[in-house]
Amino acid sequence: NGTRNLKIACIGAGYVGGPTMAVIAAKSPPGAVDVLVLDKSEVRVREWNSDRLPIYEPGLEELVKAQRGKNLHFSSDVDGGIRWADMIFVAVNTPTKRCGIGAGQAADMTFVEAAARRIAEVADTPKIVVEKSTVPIRTAEAIRQVLEANGRTSFAILSNPEFLAEGSAIRDLCEPDRVLIGGNVDRETDRQAVQTLVDVYAYWVPRERILTTNVWSSELSKLVANAFLAQRVSSINSVSALCEASGADVSEVARAVGMDARIGPHFLGASVGFGGSCFQKDILNLVYLCESFKLDAVACYWRQVIEMNNWQKERFTVRILHGMYNTITGKKIAVLGFAFKRDTGDTRESPAIDVCARLWEEQALLSIYDPKVDAEQIWDDLTRRCHCTRDELQQRIRLAPSAEAAAHGSHALLLLTDWEEFRALDFGQIYRSMSKPAFVFDGRNLLDAAALRQLGYVVYAVGKPI
Ligand code: NAD
Ligand code: UGA
Repeated sequence: NGTRNLKIACIGAGYVGGPTMAVIAAKSPPGAVDVLVLDKSEVRVREWNSDRLPIYEPGLEELVKAQRGKNLHFSSDVDGGIRWADMIFVAVNTPTKRCGIGAGQAADMTFVEAAARRIAEVADTPKIVVEKSTVPIRTAEAIRQVLEANGRTSFAILSNPEFLAEGSAIRDLCEPDRVLIGGNVDRETDRQAVQTLVDVYAYWVPRERILTTNVWSSELSKLVANAFLAQRVSSINSVSALCEASGADVSEVARAVGMDARIGPHFLGASVGFGGSCFQKDILNLVYLCESFKLDAVACYWRQVIEMNNWQKERFTVRILHGMYNTITGKKIAVLGFAFKRDTGDTRESPAIDVCARLWEEQALLSIYDPKVDAEQIWDDLTRRCHCTRDELQQRIRLAPSAEAAAHGSHALLLLTDWEEFRALDFGQIYRSMSKPAFVFDGRNLLDAAALRQLGYVVYAVGKPI
Protein backbone atom coordinates (compact mmCIF):
# COMPACT_ATOMS: atom_id res chain seq x y z
CA ASN A 1 0.00 0.00 0.00
CA GLY A 2 0.97 3.68 0.01
CA THR A 3 1.41 6.18 -2.79
CA ARG A 4 4.25 6.85 -5.24
CA ASN A 5 4.78 10.32 -6.69
CA LEU A 6 1.17 11.23 -6.05
CA LYS A 7 0.74 14.79 -7.30
CA ILE A 8 -1.47 16.70 -4.88
CA ALA A 9 -2.66 20.23 -5.60
CA CYS A 10 -4.74 22.39 -3.28
CA ILE A 11 -6.80 25.33 -4.54
CA GLY A 12 -6.84 27.91 -1.72
CA ALA A 13 -3.71 28.81 0.25
CA GLY A 14 -5.49 30.05 3.36
CA TYR A 15 -5.72 29.01 7.02
CA VAL A 16 -6.74 25.51 5.96
CA GLY A 17 -4.96 24.95 2.62
CA GLY A 18 -1.52 26.16 3.76
CA PRO A 19 -1.16 24.26 7.06
CA THR A 20 -2.90 21.09 5.81
CA MET A 21 -0.71 20.79 2.76
CA ALA A 22 2.44 21.57 4.76
CA VAL A 23 1.62 18.69 7.10
CA ILE A 24 0.84 16.24 4.26
CA ALA A 25 4.18 17.16 2.66
CA ALA A 26 6.07 16.79 5.94
CA LYS A 27 4.48 13.54 7.05
CA SER A 28 4.75 11.52 3.84
CA PRO A 29 7.86 9.46 3.16
CA PRO A 30 10.33 10.59 0.45
CA GLY A 31 8.96 10.13 -3.07
CA ALA A 32 5.41 9.41 -1.88
CA VAL A 33 3.71 12.75 -2.59
CA ASP A 34 4.48 16.06 -4.21
CA VAL A 35 2.35 18.97 -3.00
CA LEU A 36 1.49 22.19 -4.80
CA VAL A 37 -0.61 24.86 -3.06
CA LEU A 38 -2.42 27.20 -5.44
CA ASP A 39 -4.10 30.53 -4.92
CA LYS A 40 -5.53 33.14 -7.24
CA SER A 41 -4.03 35.80 -4.99
CA GLU A 42 -0.48 36.47 -6.17
CA VAL A 43 0.21 38.44 -3.01
CA ARG A 44 -0.71 35.46 -0.83
CA VAL A 45 1.44 33.10 -2.88
CA ARG A 46 4.38 35.50 -2.74
CA GLU A 47 4.02 35.62 1.05
CA TRP A 48 3.95 31.82 1.29
CA ASN A 49 7.19 31.82 -0.70
CA SER A 50 8.78 34.50 1.51
CA ASP A 51 10.21 34.68 5.02
CA ARG A 52 7.01 36.25 6.34
CA LEU A 53 4.13 33.80 5.89
CA PRO A 54 0.64 35.26 5.35
CA ILE A 55 -0.76 33.63 8.50
CA TYR A 56 0.56 33.14 12.01
CA GLU A 57 0.20 29.63 13.40
CA PRO A 58 2.56 28.11 16.00
CA GLY A 59 4.96 25.62 14.36
CA LEU A 60 3.87 26.48 10.80
CA GLU A 61 6.89 28.54 9.81
CA GLU A 62 9.39 25.82 10.77
CA LEU A 63 7.38 23.22 8.89
CA VAL A 64 7.01 25.29 5.72
CA LYS A 65 10.67 26.29 5.71
CA ALA A 66 11.72 22.65 6.06
CA GLN A 67 9.56 21.37 3.18
CA ARG A 68 9.37 24.32 0.78
CA GLY A 69 11.21 23.69 -2.47
CA LYS A 70 11.37 19.95 -1.69
CA ASN A 71 7.91 18.39 -1.90
CA LEU A 72 5.96 21.56 -1.03
CA HIS A 73 5.46 24.39 -3.51
CA PHE A 74 3.25 27.47 -3.72
CA SER A 75 2.06 28.93 -7.01
CA SER A 76 -0.54 31.26 -8.49
CA ASP A 77 -0.62 29.30 -11.75
CA VAL A 78 -3.92 27.63 -10.85
CA ASP A 79 -4.54 26.19 -14.35
CA GLY A 80 -1.04 24.73 -14.60
CA GLY A 81 -1.44 23.19 -11.14
CA ILE A 82 -4.78 21.61 -12.03
CA ARG A 83 -3.32 20.07 -15.18
CA TRP A 84 -0.32 18.71 -13.27
CA ALA A 85 -2.19 17.14 -10.33
CA ASP A 86 -3.66 13.68 -9.75
CA MET A 87 -5.58 14.81 -6.67
CA ILE A 88 -6.98 18.32 -6.16
CA PHE A 89 -8.14 19.60 -2.78
CA VAL A 90 -10.58 22.52 -2.86
CA ALA A 91 -9.94 24.62 0.27
CA VAL A 92 -11.38 27.97 -0.76
CA ASN A 93 -13.42 30.24 1.50
CA THR A 94 -17.17 29.70 1.90
CA PRO A 95 -18.38 32.86 3.70
CA THR A 96 -21.98 33.67 4.56
CA LYS A 97 -23.86 35.08 1.57
CA ARG A 98 -24.20 38.85 1.71
CA CYS A 99 -26.94 39.35 -0.83
CA GLY A 100 -29.65 37.52 -2.75
CA ILE A 101 -31.60 34.47 -1.63
CA GLY A 102 -30.36 33.21 1.74
CA ALA A 103 -28.38 36.42 2.40
CA GLY A 104 -27.07 36.49 5.97
CA GLN A 105 -27.48 32.72 6.35
CA ALA A 106 -26.62 30.48 3.42
CA ALA A 107 -23.02 29.74 2.49
CA ASP A 108 -21.72 31.65 -0.51
CA MET A 109 -20.63 28.92 -2.91
CA THR A 110 -19.17 31.29 -5.52
CA PHE A 111 -15.55 30.36 -4.80
CA VAL A 112 -16.19 26.61 -4.63
CA GLU A 113 -18.06 26.70 -7.89
CA ALA A 114 -15.40 28.88 -9.53
CA ALA A 115 -12.74 26.34 -8.49
CA ALA A 116 -14.85 23.45 -9.82
CA ARG A 117 -15.41 25.26 -13.12
CA ARG A 118 -11.67 25.90 -13.45
CA ILE A 119 -11.01 22.19 -12.93
CA ALA A 120 -13.72 21.27 -15.46
CA GLU A 121 -12.27 23.71 -17.96
CA VAL A 122 -8.64 22.74 -17.67
CA ALA A 123 -8.39 19.08 -16.61
CA ASP A 124 -7.49 16.68 -19.38
CA THR A 125 -6.57 13.61 -17.33
CA PRO A 126 -8.60 11.83 -14.58
CA LYS A 127 -8.58 13.67 -11.25
CA ILE A 128 -9.60 13.01 -7.68
CA VAL A 129 -11.33 16.15 -6.44
CA VAL A 130 -11.43 16.51 -2.66
CA GLU A 131 -13.91 18.90 -1.10
CA LYS A 132 -11.99 20.34 1.88
CA SER A 133 -13.96 23.56 2.33
CA THR A 134 -16.92 23.45 4.72
CA VAL A 135 -19.98 23.27 2.50
CA PRO A 136 -23.73 22.68 2.68
CA ILE A 137 -24.86 19.09 2.42
CA ARG A 138 -25.08 17.84 -1.19
CA THR A 139 -22.45 20.24 -2.53
CA ALA A 140 -20.43 17.29 -3.83
CA GLU A 141 -23.32 16.54 -6.16
CA ALA A 142 -23.26 20.10 -7.53
CA ILE A 143 -19.49 19.83 -8.01
CA ARG A 144 -19.97 16.54 -9.86
CA GLN A 145 -22.48 18.12 -12.23
CA VAL A 146 -20.14 21.02 -12.99
CA LEU A 147 -17.19 18.69 -13.56
CA GLU A 148 -19.02 16.11 -15.64
CA ALA A 149 -20.76 18.66 -17.85
CA ASN A 150 -17.42 19.02 -19.57
CA GLY A 151 -17.14 15.33 -20.45
CA ARG A 152 -13.43 15.36 -21.42
CA THR A 153 -12.14 13.24 -18.55
CA SER A 154 -13.34 11.38 -15.45
CA PHE A 155 -13.49 12.59 -11.87
CA ALA A 156 -13.82 11.04 -8.44
CA ILE A 157 -15.34 13.40 -5.86
CA LEU A 158 -14.66 13.02 -2.16
CA SER A 159 -15.60 14.99 0.91
CA ASN A 160 -12.82 15.45 3.48
CA PRO A 161 -13.81 18.21 5.89
CA GLU A 162 -11.16 19.80 8.08
CA PHE A 163 -11.43 19.95 11.87
CA LEU A 164 -8.30 21.94 12.75
CA ALA A 165 -8.67 24.89 15.10
CA GLU A 166 -6.60 28.02 14.56
CA GLY A 167 -3.77 28.48 17.02
CA SER A 168 -3.37 24.70 17.31
CA ALA A 169 -3.62 23.83 13.60
CA ILE A 170 -0.31 22.01 13.31
CA ARG A 171 -0.92 19.90 16.40
CA ASP A 172 -4.50 19.18 15.29
CA LEU A 173 -3.28 18.12 11.85
CA CYS A 174 -0.43 15.99 13.17
CA GLU A 175 -2.57 14.28 15.82
CA PRO A 176 -6.17 14.52 14.65
CA ASP A 177 -8.96 13.03 16.76
CA ARG A 178 -10.24 11.68 13.47
CA VAL A 179 -9.96 12.16 9.72
CA LEU A 180 -13.26 11.98 7.88
CA ILE A 181 -13.49 10.87 4.26
CA GLY A 182 -16.84 10.69 2.48
CA GLY A 183 -17.15 8.91 -0.84
CA ASN A 184 -19.79 7.28 -2.96
CA VAL A 185 -18.83 3.61 -2.66
CA ASP A 186 -21.29 2.62 -5.38
CA ARG A 187 -18.91 4.13 -7.92
CA GLU A 188 -15.71 2.22 -8.58
CA THR A 189 -13.65 5.39 -9.28
CA ASP A 190 -14.78 6.94 -6.01
CA ARG A 191 -14.05 3.76 -4.07
CA GLN A 192 -10.47 3.69 -5.37
CA ALA A 193 -10.09 7.40 -4.69
CA VAL A 194 -11.17 6.92 -1.06
CA GLN A 195 -8.42 4.32 -0.72
CA THR A 196 -5.81 6.67 -2.20
CA LEU A 197 -6.77 9.42 0.23
CA VAL A 198 -6.81 6.97 3.14
CA ASP A 199 -3.27 5.94 2.10
CA VAL A 200 -2.11 9.57 2.23
CA TYR A 201 -3.42 10.13 5.77
CA ALA A 202 -2.26 6.70 6.92
CA TYR A 203 1.36 7.92 6.65
CA TRP A 204 0.85 9.45 10.08
CA VAL A 205 -2.73 8.92 11.29
CA PRO A 206 -3.61 5.56 12.92
CA ARG A 207 -6.05 3.68 10.68
CA GLU A 208 -8.74 3.46 13.34
CA ARG A 209 -8.90 7.24 13.35
CA ILE A 210 -9.61 7.44 9.62
CA LEU A 211 -13.38 7.23 9.18
CA THR A 212 -14.99 6.58 5.84
CA THR A 213 -18.66 7.42 5.34
CA ASN A 214 -21.04 8.33 2.57
CA VAL A 215 -20.57 11.81 1.14
CA TRP A 216 -23.66 13.39 2.70
CA SER A 217 -22.80 12.19 6.21
CA SER A 218 -19.31 13.57 5.82
CA GLU A 219 -20.53 16.99 4.68
CA LEU A 220 -23.15 17.19 7.41
CA SER A 221 -20.82 15.94 10.19
CA LYS A 222 -18.61 18.99 9.72
CA LEU A 223 -21.47 21.44 10.22
CA VAL A 224 -22.78 19.44 13.17
CA ALA A 225 -19.36 19.24 14.87
CA ASN A 226 -19.00 23.03 14.77
CA ALA A 227 -22.58 23.51 15.90
CA PHE A 228 -22.02 21.24 18.93
CA LEU A 229 -18.79 23.04 19.88
CA ALA A 230 -20.38 26.47 19.60
CA GLN A 231 -23.40 25.23 21.51
CA ARG A 232 -21.20 24.29 24.46
CA VAL A 233 -19.73 27.79 24.56
CA SER A 234 -23.18 29.37 24.39
CA SER A 235 -24.43 26.97 27.07
CA ILE A 236 -21.69 27.88 29.53
CA ASN A 237 -22.06 31.56 28.66
CA SER A 238 -25.77 31.39 29.44
CA VAL A 239 -24.82 29.84 32.78
CA SER A 240 -22.27 32.63 33.36
CA ALA A 241 -25.12 35.16 33.45
CA LEU A 242 -26.94 33.02 35.99
CA CYS A 243 -23.77 32.76 38.07
CA GLU A 244 -23.35 36.53 38.14
CA ALA A 245 -26.97 36.94 39.20
CA SER A 246 -26.84 34.27 41.90
CA GLY A 247 -23.33 34.32 43.37
CA ALA A 248 -22.14 30.99 41.92
CA ASP A 249 -18.75 30.85 40.14
CA VAL A 250 -18.89 29.66 36.53
CA SER A 251 -15.42 28.04 36.67
CA GLU A 252 -16.47 25.96 39.64
CA VAL A 253 -19.73 25.00 37.95
CA ALA A 254 -17.93 24.12 34.69
CA ARG A 255 -15.45 21.95 36.59
CA ALA A 256 -18.13 20.14 38.54
CA VAL A 257 -20.26 19.57 35.45
CA GLY A 258 -17.35 18.68 33.16
CA MET A 259 -16.04 15.96 35.48
CA ASP A 260 -19.02 13.88 34.46
CA ALA A 261 -17.41 11.64 31.85
CA ARG A 262 -20.56 11.87 29.73
CA ILE A 263 -20.19 15.66 29.52
CA GLY A 264 -16.40 16.09 29.50
CA PRO A 265 -14.27 19.08 30.50
CA HIS A 266 -13.52 20.73 27.13
CA PHE A 267 -15.10 23.83 25.65
CA LEU A 268 -16.68 24.93 28.88
CA GLY A 269 -14.72 28.18 29.21
CA ALA A 270 -17.09 31.12 29.74
CA SER A 271 -16.06 34.13 27.68
CA VAL A 272 -17.06 37.42 26.12
CA GLY A 273 -18.45 35.22 23.31
CA PHE A 274 -17.12 32.98 20.59
CA GLY A 275 -15.64 34.34 17.38
CA GLY A 276 -13.77 32.96 14.40
CA SER A 277 -14.60 32.58 10.77
CA CYS A 278 -16.59 29.39 11.11
CA PHE A 279 -18.86 28.87 14.14
CA GLN A 280 -21.39 31.54 13.23
CA LYS A 281 -21.17 30.93 9.49
CA ASP A 282 -21.57 27.17 9.82
CA ILE A 283 -24.51 27.38 12.24
CA LEU A 284 -26.22 29.91 9.97
CA ASN A 285 -25.63 27.48 7.14
CA LEU A 286 -27.16 24.66 9.21
CA VAL A 287 -30.14 26.85 10.08
CA TYR A 288 -30.64 27.68 6.42
CA LEU A 289 -30.51 24.00 5.49
CA CYS A 290 -33.09 23.14 8.16
CA GLU A 291 -35.38 25.90 6.93
CA SER A 292 -35.07 24.72 3.36
CA PHE A 293 -36.14 21.24 4.53
CA LYS A 294 -39.04 22.93 6.40
CA LEU A 295 -37.61 21.85 9.76
CA ASP A 296 -38.44 25.10 11.50
CA ALA A 297 -38.16 23.81 15.07
CA VAL A 298 -34.67 22.47 14.34
CA ALA A 299 -33.64 25.75 12.71
CA CYS A 300 -34.95 27.69 15.69
CA TYR A 301 -33.05 25.45 18.12
CA TRP A 302 -29.68 26.08 16.46
CA ARG A 303 -30.29 29.78 15.80
CA GLN A 304 -30.50 30.23 19.56
CA VAL A 305 -26.78 29.35 19.87
CA ILE A 306 -25.94 32.48 17.88
CA GLU A 307 -28.49 34.62 19.64
CA MET A 308 -27.01 33.65 23.00
CA ASN A 309 -23.55 34.56 21.68
CA ASN A 310 -24.73 37.98 20.51
CA TRP A 311 -26.41 38.54 23.85
CA GLN A 312 -23.23 37.62 25.71
CA LYS A 313 -21.13 40.13 23.74
CA GLU A 314 -23.71 42.84 24.41
CA ARG A 315 -24.02 41.84 28.08
CA PHE A 316 -20.25 42.22 28.50
CA THR A 317 -20.36 45.72 27.00
CA VAL A 318 -23.29 46.78 29.17
CA ARG A 319 -21.42 45.46 32.21
CA ILE A 320 -18.49 47.75 31.37
CA LEU A 321 -20.79 50.72 31.03
CA HIS A 322 -22.66 50.03 34.27
CA GLY A 323 -19.46 49.26 36.15
CA MET A 324 -17.98 52.59 35.12
CA TYR A 325 -20.88 54.66 36.49
CA ASN A 326 -22.95 54.55 33.28
CA THR A 327 -20.68 56.79 31.29
CA ILE A 328 -17.49 56.12 29.41
CA THR A 329 -17.62 59.27 27.31
CA GLY A 330 -14.08 60.58 26.97
CA LYS A 331 -12.64 57.85 29.21
CA LYS A 332 -9.57 56.03 27.95
CA ILE A 333 -10.04 52.27 27.81
CA ALA A 334 -7.22 49.84 27.04
CA VAL A 335 -8.22 46.89 24.88
CA LEU A 336 -5.88 43.93 25.34
CA GLY A 337 -6.26 41.49 22.47
CA PHE A 338 -8.11 41.83 19.18
CA ALA A 339 -7.73 38.33 17.64
CA PHE A 340 -10.70 35.98 18.05
CA LYS A 341 -8.60 33.66 20.23
CA ARG A 342 -5.01 33.27 21.38
CA ASP A 343 -2.15 32.16 19.10
CA THR A 344 -3.61 33.53 15.90
CA GLY A 345 -3.53 36.84 14.06
CA ASP A 346 -7.01 36.13 12.68
CA THR A 347 -9.77 38.59 13.59
CA ARG A 348 -12.67 37.16 11.59
CA GLU A 349 -15.87 37.56 13.69
CA SER A 350 -13.70 38.44 16.70
CA PRO A 351 -15.85 39.55 19.66
CA ALA A 352 -13.33 42.39 20.06
CA ILE A 353 -14.75 44.00 16.91
CA ASP A 354 -18.26 44.16 18.38
CA VAL A 355 -17.14 45.27 21.82
CA CYS A 356 -14.88 48.02 20.42
CA ALA A 357 -17.63 49.22 18.10
CA ARG A 358 -20.10 49.50 20.99
CA LEU A 359 -17.58 51.39 23.16
CA TRP A 360 -16.87 53.70 20.23
CA GLU A 361 -20.60 54.47 20.03
CA GLU A 362 -20.46 55.33 23.73
CA GLN A 363 -17.75 57.91 22.91
CA ALA A 364 -14.93 56.15 24.77
CA LEU A 365 -11.27 56.65 23.81
CA LEU A 366 -9.81 53.27 22.91
CA SER A 367 -6.21 52.15 22.93
CA ILE A 368 -5.88 48.71 21.33
CA TYR A 369 -2.99 46.26 21.59
CA ASP A 370 -2.69 42.77 20.11
CA PRO A 371 0.61 40.87 19.81
CA LYS A 372 -0.10 39.42 16.35
CA VAL A 373 -2.88 41.26 14.56
CA ASP A 374 -1.74 43.68 11.82
CA ALA A 375 -2.69 47.34 12.32
CA GLU A 376 -4.27 47.42 8.84
CA GLN A 377 -6.54 44.55 9.81
CA ILE A 378 -7.78 46.35 12.94
CA TRP A 379 -8.56 49.51 10.98
CA ASP A 380 -10.32 47.49 8.26
CA ASP A 381 -12.45 45.63 10.77
CA LEU A 382 -13.43 48.75 12.68
CA THR A 383 -14.13 50.99 9.70
CA ARG A 384 -16.42 48.29 8.32
CA ARG A 385 -18.17 47.63 11.63
CA CYS A 386 -18.51 51.27 12.74
CA HIS A 387 -19.47 52.51 9.25
CA CYS A 388 -17.00 55.37 9.37
CA THR A 389 -13.68 56.38 7.93
CA ARG A 390 -10.29 55.69 9.44
CA ASP A 391 -9.82 59.43 10.02
CA GLU A 392 -13.02 59.55 12.03
CA LEU A 393 -12.00 56.50 14.06
CA GLN A 394 -8.56 57.90 14.72
CA GLN A 395 -10.07 60.83 16.58
CA ARG A 396 -10.83 58.41 19.43
CA ILE A 397 -9.02 55.15 18.70
CA ARG A 398 -5.28 54.51 18.86
CA LEU A 399 -3.26 51.35 18.36
CA ALA A 400 -0.65 50.79 21.06
CA PRO A 401 2.75 49.08 20.68
CA SER A 402 2.42 47.18 23.98
CA ALA A 403 -0.08 46.32 26.69
CA GLU A 404 1.66 48.76 29.05
CA ALA A 405 1.42 51.60 26.54
CA ALA A 406 -2.27 50.84 25.94
CA ALA A 407 -2.93 50.85 29.68
CA HIS A 408 -1.04 54.07 30.48
CA GLY A 409 -3.50 56.69 31.75
CA SER A 410 -6.54 54.50 31.10
CA HIS A 411 -9.58 54.02 33.35
CA ALA A 412 -10.04 50.36 32.46
CA LEU A 413 -8.34 47.31 31.01
CA LEU A 414 -10.47 45.03 28.84
CA LEU A 415 -9.05 41.61 28.23
CA LEU A 416 -10.66 40.33 25.03
CA THR A 417 -8.20 37.66 23.80
CA ASP A 418 -6.65 34.97 25.98
CA TRP A 419 -3.04 35.60 24.95
CA GLU A 420 -0.77 33.89 27.47
CA GLU A 421 1.52 36.95 27.62
CA PHE A 422 -1.25 38.98 29.33
CA ARG A 423 -1.03 36.73 32.36
CA ALA A 424 2.59 37.74 32.90
CA LEU A 425 2.08 41.53 32.79
CA ASP A 426 3.32 43.60 35.73
CA PHE A 427 -0.11 44.63 36.97
CA GLY A 428 1.34 46.55 39.92
CA GLN A 429 3.27 48.82 37.59
CA ILE A 430 0.28 49.13 35.25
CA TYR A 431 -2.00 50.04 38.19
CA ARG A 432 0.26 52.94 39.10
CA SER A 433 0.05 54.30 35.54
CA MET A 434 -3.78 54.19 35.39
CA SER A 435 -6.58 56.59 36.40
CA LYS A 436 -8.33 55.58 39.61
CA PRO A 437 -10.50 53.74 40.30
CA ALA A 438 -8.76 51.34 37.92
CA PHE A 439 -11.08 48.71 36.40
CA VAL A 440 -10.34 45.33 34.86
CA PHE A 441 -12.97 43.59 32.72
CA ASP A 442 -11.65 40.12 32.01
CA GLY A 443 -13.60 38.68 29.06
CA ARG A 444 -11.62 35.43 29.13
CA ASN A 445 -11.25 34.68 32.84
CA LEU A 446 -7.52 34.60 32.23
CA LEU A 447 -6.29 36.77 35.10
CA ASP A 448 -6.07 36.12 38.83
CA ALA A 449 -8.93 38.34 40.01
CA ALA A 450 -8.06 38.02 43.72
CA ALA A 451 -4.45 39.12 43.14
CA LEU A 452 -5.64 42.08 41.06
CA ARG A 453 -8.08 43.15 43.78
CA GLN A 454 -5.20 43.04 46.26
CA LEU A 455 -3.38 45.53 44.04
CA GLY A 456 -6.40 47.86 44.16
CA TYR A 457 -8.21 47.09 40.91
CA VAL A 458 -11.98 46.78 40.64
CA VAL A 459 -12.33 43.49 38.78
CA TYR A 460 -15.15 42.03 36.72
CA ALA A 461 -14.71 38.52 35.35
CA VAL A 462 -17.29 36.61 33.32
CA GLY A 463 -19.58 34.50 35.51
CA LYS A 464 -17.73 35.28 38.75
CA PRO A 465 -18.82 36.91 41.97
CA ILE A 466 -17.87 40.60 42.09
P1 NAD B 1 -9.12 31.63 3.70
O1 NAD B 1 -9.96 32.79 3.33
O2 NAD B 1 -8.03 31.80 4.69
O3 NAD B 1 -8.45 31.01 2.39
C1 NAD B 1 -9.13 30.76 1.20
C2 NAD B 1 -8.18 31.06 0.03
O4 NAD B 1 -8.80 30.61 -1.18
C3 NAD B 1 -7.89 32.54 -0.17
O5 NAD B 1 -6.48 32.74 -0.12
C4 NAD B 1 -8.46 32.85 -1.56
O6 NAD B 1 -7.66 33.78 -2.29
C5 NAD B 1 -8.42 31.49 -2.23
N1 NAD B 1 -9.38 31.32 -3.32
C6 NAD B 1 -10.72 31.57 -3.31
N2 NAD B 1 -11.26 31.23 -4.50
C7 NAD B 1 -10.25 30.76 -5.28
C8 NAD B 1 -10.19 30.26 -6.61
N3 NAD B 1 -11.30 30.13 -7.34
N4 NAD B 1 -8.98 29.89 -7.10
C9 NAD B 1 -7.86 29.99 -6.34
N5 NAD B 1 -7.85 30.45 -5.08
C10 NAD B 1 -9.04 30.83 -4.54
O7 NAD B 1 -10.14 30.50 4.18
P2 NAD B 1 -9.86 29.34 5.27
O8 NAD B 1 -10.00 29.89 6.64
O9 NAD B 1 -8.65 28.59 4.88
O10 NAD B 1 -11.16 28.42 5.04
C11 NAD B 1 -11.29 27.63 3.88
C12 NAD B 1 -12.44 26.66 4.09
O11 NAD B 1 -12.12 25.76 5.15
C13 NAD B 1 -13.77 27.31 4.49
O12 NAD B 1 -14.81 26.58 3.88
C14 NAD B 1 -13.81 27.13 5.98
O13 NAD B 1 -15.13 27.05 6.46
C15 NAD B 1 -13.12 25.81 6.17
N6 NAD B 1 -12.46 25.62 7.47
C16 NAD B 1 -11.73 26.64 8.03
C17 NAD B 1 -11.05 26.44 9.23
C18 NAD B 1 -10.25 27.54 9.89
O14 NAD B 1 -9.81 27.33 11.00
N7 NAD B 1 -10.04 28.68 9.27
C19 NAD B 1 -11.09 25.19 9.84
C20 NAD B 1 -11.81 24.15 9.23
C21 NAD B 1 -12.49 24.40 8.04
C1 UGA C 1 -13.30 25.79 15.35
C2 UGA C 1 -13.33 24.30 15.72
O1 UGA C 1 -12.78 24.13 17.02
C3 UGA C 1 -12.54 23.47 14.72
O2 UGA C 1 -12.68 22.08 15.02
C4 UGA C 1 -13.07 23.75 13.31
O3 UGA C 1 -12.32 23.03 12.35
C5 UGA C 1 -12.99 25.22 13.03
O4 UGA C 1 -13.76 25.96 14.02
C6 UGA C 1 -13.55 25.61 11.71
O5 UGA C 1 -14.35 24.91 11.14
O6 UGA C 1 -13.16 26.71 11.30
P1 UGA C 1 -11.56 27.78 15.68
O7 UGA C 1 -12.75 28.64 15.36
O8 UGA C 1 -10.31 28.00 14.94
O9 UGA C 1 -11.95 26.23 15.47
O10 UGA C 1 -11.22 27.93 17.24
P2 UGA C 1 -11.91 27.37 18.57
O11 UGA C 1 -10.84 26.93 19.47
O12 UGA C 1 -12.99 26.41 18.28
O13 UGA C 1 -12.54 28.69 19.21
C7 UGA C 1 -13.67 29.32 18.62
C8 UGA C 1 -14.13 30.47 19.51
O14 UGA C 1 -14.73 29.96 20.70
C9 UGA C 1 -12.99 31.37 19.97
O15 UGA C 1 -13.41 32.71 19.94
C10 UGA C 1 -12.71 30.90 21.38
O16 UGA C 1 -12.13 31.88 22.17
C11 UGA C 1 -14.13 30.56 21.84
N1 UGA C 1 -14.16 29.60 22.96
C12 UGA C 1 -13.68 28.34 22.80
C13 UGA C 1 -14.74 29.99 24.16
O17 UGA C 1 -15.20 31.13 24.31
N2 UGA C 1 -14.77 29.09 25.19
C14 UGA C 1 -14.28 27.82 25.08
O18 UGA C 1 -14.35 27.05 26.07
C15 UGA C 1 -13.72 27.45 23.84
